[in-house]
Amino acid sequence: MADLDGNKAEKDYHADKPFAVSGNFHVKGAANLDWGVKKRLSNIFNPRTGNTVMFAFDHGYFMGSVSGLERLDLLMPKLIDHVDVLMATRGALRTCVRPNFRKGIALRVTSGSSMLNDDLSHEVVAVDMEDAIRMDADALAVQVFVGADGQLSSLENLSKVVNAANRYGIATLGVVAVGKDMERTDKYFKLATRIIAELGANIVKTYYCEKFDEVVAACPVPIVVAGGKKLPEKQALEMAYNSIQGGARGLDMGRNIFQSPNPAAMADAIAKIVHRKFTVKEAWEFYSDAVGQKS
Ligand code: 5RP
Repeated sequence: MADLDGNKAEKDYHADKPFAVSGNFHVKGAANLDWGVKKRLSNIFNPRTGNTVMFAFDHGYFMGSVSGLERLDLLMPKLIDHVDVLMATRGALRTCVRPNFRKGIALRVTSGSSMLNDDLSHEVVAVDMEDAIRMDADALAVQVFVGADGQLSSLENLSKVVNAANRYGIATLGVVAVGKDMERTDKYFKLATRIIAELGANIVKTYYCEKFDEVVAACPVPIVVAGGKKLPEKQALEMAYNSIQGGARGLDMGRNIFQSPNPAAMADAIAKIVHRKFTVKEAWEFYSDAVGQKS
């Protein structure tokens, strides 16, 4: 293991240079992977745009019912046609989502914490590979707590899931967790995203930050950006736009979709940015018209 003394600070990410090992496949870092996992990654990342709009509604695995997700059974039929991928728990999918929706699935497979304790960083792998296959998951979502007390166990969870998922041609999505006192700096996100990718995840979910293009350049697999806490819709669209401009291959939003006044219109506006190169102004006008507001 390289010692940490005298480490030189990284300096050139060549953020303007495309990833060199593409192999004529539209997902970064997947050129050398097998047919099946490439098919599953294509269920997530649109082959035409290389991007994705994921809808995250897995909050219940540690938050229980949150505002906007009180009745998933009523929400999902309104939203499902407006997103590309569902990020959810097996319990939510099996009980509240019809299986005939033909969307990508990012299945939340870790759990073990709740809002009743401050330290959320101790999780276990709760879904076994057999049930992930039964659910026809395209990717398995694992929470990773770099720098937290649960760092070792979360990285062990990630490695266990990568080992098992690789056996069956399923992708792994490593989710960068940010605690309330974790720094949201490019330095932290470069570390966390690169560790997740080096441990074998095929997709990384993290947050937008300063120098985001360098975070993207240093990560050898695609990054999707988490929405995070609810923002005013225009700010959420700005964050989506900046993320895509910075090299993210999509958004994985939850609260900024399901807590907006019109979740379907918000998802559509995000999709315009992700897949149709809309500017913030164009996406905001689209959203405003869709909900009958004038900016
Ligand atoms: C925690 C998560 C959540 O489970 C969820 O996906 C977050 O969605 P959002 O922050 O957009 O509401 O990934 O890290």
